[in-house]
Amino acid sequence: MPSTCSTQRSSIYAPRLCRLLEVSDLTPQEKLFRLQLEDGSVLNHQPGQFVQVSIPGLTEAPISVASSPSRNGYFELGVRKAGSLTGAMHLLQPGATIGIRGPFGRPFQIDALRKRHLILLAGGCGLAPLRSLIQYCQDYPEQFGTIDILYGARSPQDLLFKDDLLQWRLSACFSCTYTVDNDPADSCYDGETGLITRLLPKLQIAPADTCAVVVGPPPMYRPVIEALHDKGLPSDRIMLSLERNMRCGIGKCGHCTIEHLYCCSDGPIFWLNEVEHLRGAL
Ligand SMILES: Cc1cc2nc3c(=O)[nH]c(=O)nc-3n(C[C@H](O)[C@H](O)[C@H](O)COP(=O)(O)OP(=O)(O)OC[C@H]3O[C@@H](n4cnc5c(N)ncnc54)[C@H](O)[C@@H]3O)c2cc1C
Ligand code: FES
Repeated sequence: MPSTCSTQRSSIYAPRLCRLLEVSDLTPQEKLFRLQLEDGSVLNHQPGQFVQVSIPGLTEAPISVASSPSRNGYFELGVRKAGSLTGAMHLLQPGATIGIRGPFGRPFQIDALRKRHLILLAGGCGLAPLRSLIQYCQDYPEQFGTIDILYGARSPQDLLFKDDLLQWRLSACFSCTYTVDNDPADSCYDGETGLITRLLPKLQIAPADTCAVVVGPPPMYRPVIEALHDKGLPSDRIMLSLERNMRCGIGKCGHCTIEHLYCCSDGPIFWLNEVEHLRGAL
């Protein structure tokens, strides 16, 4: 097994080269990249962490790791084409190399999730980081209670990880429900229609035994949190991911602050009770 500690230390400032093993389309705007570190070492990330991706001549961008550390030999990034770096990534073919720094950030607090009923709730691109945790739960089912996956996207064509959604629906590990805001009349979509908050009242929750993990676009947080509170779930049992513009990724430059917190190193994963009182957090 390669040394992970020394590898991580030396890579905080210097990008490490990764080879692109596979690239596949998730939607017209999002692709999945399967990567391997060139030096053969393991990324050694935890679900919820991100890497700073670079291509020579372009700036870096933070991208969450979308696969679980329990899937050996590679790691995956689900990337939306948003601007210069991600646009360039979308042009890459298998065999190409990119740079990464990291993994960085506070991961999902898996110890606090063990033996609990889990509600794993994602909106849009939020399914990418959550997929890392979902795969982890799938690989270690004995560590967790029952698991409800709830996912919302804008339309059937915007649903990410469609093969995974199908597999999770069929898996004994999970109950998996997805919904879209709008379902065009001519689509063969077979899931639910309406906002993701519509799925929550149907869930059976024993608040004392339940934790929720929420990852999605900013407008999703307040209504989802309200619905979880209505089900009796307190803020110290709701974990969420907060994304901000980032530069260094390691708590040095101040680009990602929410009041006194650095999103890159104190987060991106927080308990709701740590951030709900901070101005601009949600
Ligand atoms: C912790 C973290 C994890 C992320 N994980 C993923 C992921 O798994 N997949 C993915 O596709 N994207 C992810 N993002 C968002 C991604 O980093 C941005 O879209 C990034 O700006 C793209 O870089 P670019 O050079 O292609 O775009 P740019 O040319 O830099 O800009 C594109 C547009 O996106 C805006 N933007 C910049 N940063 C962010 C941000 N953090 N959130 C929203 N908009 C932003 C810019 O203001 C600009 O309008 C993550 C962001 C953070 C902070
Ligand atoms: S990105 Fe530099 S301090 Fe967080």
